[in-house]
Amino acid sequence: MTVYVHETVFTWGATPLKFGAGAVDEIGYDLARQGARRVLLITDPGIVATGVPQRVADAAEAAGLTVEIYDGVRVEPTDVSVLDAVEFARQSEWDGFVGVGGGSAIDTAKAVNLLTTYPADLFDYVNKPIGAAKAPPGPLKPLVAVPTTAGTGSETTPVCIMDFLDLKVKSGISHPALRPTMAVIDPLLTLSMPPRVTAASGMDVLCHALESYTAKPFHSFPRHTPENRVAYNGANPISDTWTEKALHLLARSFRKAVLNGGDLEARTDMMLAATFAGMGFGNAGVHIPHACAYPIAGRVRDYRPADYPQKEPLVPHGESVALTAPAAFRFTFPTDPAKHLHAARILDPATSEDLDPREQLPSALASLMRDIGLPNGLGGVGYDTSDVPDLVEGAMKQQRLLAVAPRAVREHDLEAILLDSLENW
Ligand SMILES: NC(=O)c1ccc[n+]([C@@H]2O[C@H](COP(=O)([O-])OP(=O)(O)OC[C@H]3O[C@@H](n4cnc5c(N)ncnc54)[C@H](O)[C@@H]3O)[C@@H](O)[C@H]2O)c1
Ligand SMILES: [Fe+2]
Repeated sequence: MTVYVHETVFTWGATPLKFGAGAVDEIGYDLARQGARRVLLITDPGIVATGVPQRVADAAEAAGLTVEIYDGVRVEPTDVSVLDAVEFARQSEWDGFVGVGGGSAIDTAKAVNLLTTYPADLFDYVNKPIGAAKAPPGPLKPLVAVPTTAGTGSETTPVCIMDFLDLKVKSGISHPALRPTMAVIDPLLTLSMPPRVTAASGMDVLCHALESYTAKPFHSFPRHTPENRVAYNGANPISDTWTEKALHLLARSFRKAVLNGGDLEARTDMMLAATFAGMGFGNAGVHIPHACAYPIAGRVRDYRPADYPQKEPLVPHGESVALTAPAAFRFTFPTDPAKHLHAARILDPATSEDLDPREQLPSALASLMRDIGLPNGLGGVGYDTSDVPDLVEGAMKQQRLLAVAPRAVREHDLEAILLDSLENW
């Protein structure tokens, strides 16, 4: 048998999905087909106000299912809010779950499915080094994800993320068994998304696409055995195809969707972009901006963005990711200038050829972020130079993500990236 030193194999998996206007009204058929009869629908109060959860419940009940709605999801879930949802779910028997909302609701639904199907201490399942990263002992119950943001891609990923309040760090559970059994993606559901949520969740899509496109190529990793092959393979021809398509859609429609939320064509493009980027990053992985985002969100002091109803301070996931993206891609540029330039050209075909090549992608990002009303760098969400050591320490804990960066990332590299991100324009 030939012995390979470097990886020659990559894997690709995704959730079966149904996409299109009105798709959500068929959910009763889809749940029943998967054997679900008593279903818990998991959502947050902001989504309840749009009427979508009730519409989903009505559609399922019309197909003969019993549905109860749990609307206690916290926007940007915490260990406490997740365990509250699990506690609620344990009061009855369910044979299926529906997550309706953005990443917050879908991630909470994934954790509820896991912890009610195979009860254990939450930390048993959480990623190392915070938890023991135990694998679920078997398959989970059917979970249909119905995204209402064009953002996280959680409907197709094997991950759920939460804030560990006492540890002041975000982490999550990551295992293929967590992937929803189906995604029902209906762009009409995003028409009610407010502008700041559209901007933040859209930046999440853009960073998923750019980070997986620029990730360390799968063939640069050491060879894995089949049992220890990781979910995040690194950039590969399949993820590149999806992420490039996502970039084209974002270039055409991101600004339009923020500036005119009623533009259905732009909303549909954004939903497709989120799905395509999810299909890319869910297998290739994300790296430096996402690793930095965890402490940026986890250590927030008093930033309260418009359009997010919560009283507590919060840096929305998409904003926390976007803030370090220009500096991160300045840092990764030498690893593959052609890919960085190609991405910049797709995003902003008018980028001047005279601009320093290393600056072209950061410049396209900064111009977009200015146009859609994102805060100007880490300074814009309340951080200054004195916070950088803490942020470096938090980002260094995300080794699972930093391993996918296209070059080694040491503490002083992260320090330079974070200092460079205090102001983006
Ligand atoms: N599992 C994954 O793969 C993954 C990937 C990235 C991020 N995440 C996680 O997802 C969370 C962020 O999710 P998000 O950006 O989708 O936003 P979200 O779920 O946090 O929702 C943000 C706000 O928008 C409101 N909202 C959502 N859709 C709406 C609509 N159609 N109309 C009106 N209001 C609407 C919600 O009520 C909420 O107040 C974070 O916790 C993040 O860590 C998960
Ligand atoms: Fe993300």
